[in-house]
This record gives sequence, structure tokens and C-alpha cells, in this order.
Amino acid sequence: MITHVRSVALGVPDIVAAREFFEKSWQLDLVGTDSGRVFLGAGCQDSHVLRLRATAEPRVDLLCLAAATEADVDEIAGRVAAHPLGRLVSEPATCTDEGGGYRFRFLDCEGRTVEVSSRTEVRAFRSVEPGESRPTGISHVVLNAGDLPASLEFYRSVLGLKVSDWVEDIMVFLRAGAFHHLLAFTRAPHTSLNHVAFELRGIDEFMRATGDMMRKGYGPLWGPGRHGVGANTFTYFQEPTSGFVAEYTTGMLRIDPDHEWIPRVYPANAQTSDSWGVASPRDEAVSASLRGCPDTGLWQPPPV
Ligand SMILES: [Fe+2]
Repeated sequence: MITHVRSVALGVPDIVAAREFFEKSWQLDLVGTDSGRVFLGAGCQDSHVLRLRATAEPRVDLLCLAAATEADVDEIAGRVAAHPLGRLVSEPATCTDEGGGYRFRFLDCEGRTVEVSSRTEVRAFRSVEPGESRPTGISHVVLNAGDLPASLEFYRSVLGLKVSDWVEDIMVFLRAGAFHHLLAFTRAPHTSLNHVAFELRGIDEFMRATGDMMRKGYGPLWGPGRHGVGANTFTYFQEPTSGFVAEYTTGMLRIDPDHEWIPRVYPANAQTSDSWGVASPRDEAVSASLRGCPDTGLWQPPPV
């Protein structure tokens, strides 16, 4: 089974600026660099949570999901191969690239490149202390889906994700374990990355992280607030050169896996967006930033 989002890999046109943003301001830890790539970690054992690669246009290189065991990796690869819309990019194998582990890649039904891995290297990391505004890892990723029903069917049947809740028929939240969502799809005119959310230690650290960004001169795109669906807090910021949106979050609802959960359908209104009611309205500028541009990485797996 899938356990969590291990990392996201992004292609960025200005890797110096993007690294500056995510390392110095967002407070990820520099793990290493190699030819045109930068690896950034967080307060967790995963080798990295964000990979940046220099590319001509912004693009999503990889969505990397963690599986519990090698047998899970093999099973998921088998389901991809059997799915009419799934395409294997690489077979499961032990890998020596950054992070190592047993992994494979595939193209999903909309052309996103997804990696599933297990038994990856464990990194010696520094724990996040109380009051520290460094992220502890990736909480979740939201994807804009040009074909939401197809993406939903694919991720349920191939990856075994479960539906937690809906916002009308425009957004669906998916879980693998106890957390309300590790992935969500939102109906969009094109396929692209909506945002990547990074977990903070708690509410205090979440607000400190938000304030630290503001002191560094970054105005929040949207937030701080608390989502009505999933109950997680949010402050969204935009990396200026690539346009990719990152979220600070904490406090997400947990669902007891031993109890039946019936997905709810929320209305698309201000209360659903922000139950606290303190965030600025989600206007068209916010929506446009989260919608992004059509992903130039679709159907083209990254060369590395
Ligand atoms: Fe989010």
C-alpha cells in the first residue's frame, strides 16, 4: 500500500532563484546537488522531499509516492501494466540514484510521471524542535485534473487510494492511511500542479513559518486560514520565477481506518474554503495561480 508522498520533483527555469526560495526562505535543508539538480530535505528521514532541475520551462518532473514494501511496489506496477490507461516508464528495480530504493515509474492517465518506491535510503536528519518553522515533510499534493473522473478512477484502482470527501463535483480528496488526504484532484481546464503542501510541527510552528515568509518579503497568495474539508490549516505562497505554489499546513483530520467512513459532499463556499473566516477571499488571482499553466512535462518522463 501507499504510505505517503515521499517527494516532488520540479523543473524550473531559474534554479538559482528557486533554490534560494525553497532553501533559504521555505526552510528546507540542502541535501546535495549534482549536474543540474538540487535535492532538498525536511525534518524527516526521506532522502529528499523536493528535487529541482534546471529546465527551459516550468514542468512537473515527478510525483514520488512511498510504498510500504517491495511487494507493494511490484503489485502496483502490475496494476499499472494491466490498466488500459497506464504506461510503465521503467520496471521495478533497485536504484542507485539519489535516495536509492526499489522503485519504478509510470505515466498516469493524464500523462503525469509518477514514481513508486520502497526501501529507500534513510537520511540522518535533524528533528524539528518546538517553535521551529522548518517543514517536517510533505503533507499532500493537489493536482489539477483535465479529466477528473479518469484520474480518480485511475488512482483508486491502481494505487488503492480511498475517497475521503468531495467539494461538489469539482474537488475530490484521497487518502491512503490515517490522514484525510495525501492527494487531491481538482477539476481544471488543463492538467497541472495545483500545489504542494509541506507539514509544520503544529499550529504555533505553522504561524511562525507563515510569519517568517512575510518578514522575508513574501506576501501570502492566500491564507493563513483553516480548510473546512480536512480541517488542515493553510497559507499558500508562490515561488516567483516558476509560478509553482507551495502551502504550509498542519492539523489535518485523521480518519480511523478501523471505522467505516462515508465521504461527504461539501458546498463550494467560503466556509468550506476557510472555516476560520480570517483568510482573504479566494479571488480569481488566487485561482489563476493555483490553476497554473498547462504542464509542459506531460507524456514526457524526465531524463533523470
Ligand atoms: Fe493543500
